Amino acid sequence: MDRIRIIGGHPLQGTIPISGAKNATLPLMIASLLTQDTLVLENVPRLADVRLLQHILGNHGVDIMIGGKRPGESTHDGQTLHLSAGRIVDTTAPYDLVSRMRASFWVIGPLLARMGEAKVSMPGGCAIGTRPVDLLLMVLERLGAEIATDSGYVLARAPKGLRGGSIVFPKVTVGGTHTALMAASLANGTTVIDNAAREPEIVDVADCLNKMGARISGAGTSRIVIDGVPRLSGARHRVLPDRIETGTYAMAVAMTGGNVLLENTRADLLQAALDVLTTAGAVVAETNTGVRISRNGHGIAPVTVTTAPFPGFPTDLQAQLMALTSRAQGTSRITETIFENRFMHVQELVRLGARIHLDGETATIEGVEKLKGAPVMATDLRASVSLVIAALAAEGETMVHRVYHLDRGFERLEDKLVACGAEIERISG
Ligand code: EPZ
Repeated sequence: MDRIRIIGGHPLQGTIPISGAKNATLPLMIASLLTQDTLVLENVPRLADVRLLQHILGNHGVDIMIGGKRPGESTHDGQTLHLSAGRIVDTTAPYDLVSRMRASFWVIGPLLARMGEAKVSMPGGCAIGTRPVDLLLMVLERLGAEIATDSGYVLARAPKGLRGGSIVFPKVTVGGTHTALMAASLANGTTVIDNAAREPEIVDVADCLNKMGARISGAGTSRIVIDGVPRLSGARHRVLPDRIETGTYAMAVAMTGGNVLLENTRADLLQAALDVLTTAGAVVAETNTGVRISRNGHGIAPVTVTTAPFPGFPTDLQAQLMALTSRAQGTSRITETIFENRFMHVQELVRLGARIHLDGETATIEGVEKLKGAPVMATDLRASVSLVIAALAAEGETMVHRVYHLDRGFERLEDKLVACGAEIERISG
């Protein structure tokens, strides 16, 4: 298994290109199931999760072609995927595939809407919490589907097609909102979603569906209205920048010091996180091409942060913020409200010398003057990258184990950091 070796202590200087968003790419790829025409997605990141989803969609009958290089493009640009679901050959998503990536459960909406049936394995628990699918099933029932569960599978049926309905989410759910958008786009009649997720990835998926002929309004607000249409067509869509990758490198610069332009991204995608970084002492400036982050010689100021659905501070940046605050000049408090078990990084940060006390959903972080390299490992994507950030600022060598988590969500992580002066290398085997 690959490991990553980091020698800390180098401030980051230079430019980091930000990739297309993983969490938009996955539902956009799944949306290809809704039409027999070709959906072309540009700026798709080269990630393990994207490759796995290609495999899963292939199983349903989606042909996927990866576009060749265009003049002026480098291998560092995102890839272009052509997805064609001319004929759905299988409406079952089996356990061995769904259990490897939770978002693949979302195929249930388009399969049901287009084929009138879907059999999808329950995703099961995962490292960051129990993560149930009750609200996704509620969506399908509200649109007229019959739902049954059998031997670990959800069986959804709507032989006469789905019909529009009223969906009121008791809590904000990204996956539930994606499911509602996709299923209701092909339902008969109008659907109104209340307390919808407002994440930029929801807006991106709604934009793409509208290019495919859907009639969705209000995406990005808490109330989304969808007028169903009988069929959708192909489209070409560019995936929006990855706000979590942006925020992660912004925290890395804030932690190590230095001055980096995060290219091809936008501040409005992560304003709450950038505001926290400013409070912590980083200088944030939006430019024509991206966001510039720098930190002067002064220390990091402590912060108090609670994770929340967009536009709040994202749970997907909570671990990285904890790494940053571990060296603050004072005591920080971070409360995690989205996932009950998303503190797997705490014990590992402690191995690097951080002082963190956990009490329920709140972590109290007493800043220390320095961290010291150590062998560490983590059990989910964002936790792993928080260890990389901490290691970049720690004294001496850190070896990060189980790096396959990083490959799920960070494209060319080592290359991007090395180009900015970090001492980081992958050791294979
Ligand atoms: C998406 O997961 C993201 N995944 C997650 O990114 C992200 O952490 C999360 O949204 C929150 O922003 C993708 O986009 C692929 P939710 P999702 O439904 O949709 C509860 C990463 O590292 N809930 O918004 O699964 C749930 O348990 C990841 O890239 C129910 O109770 O998250 C949680 O407490 C990990 N019942 C809350 O809602 C349901 O049926 C929000 O979860 C569904 C969710």
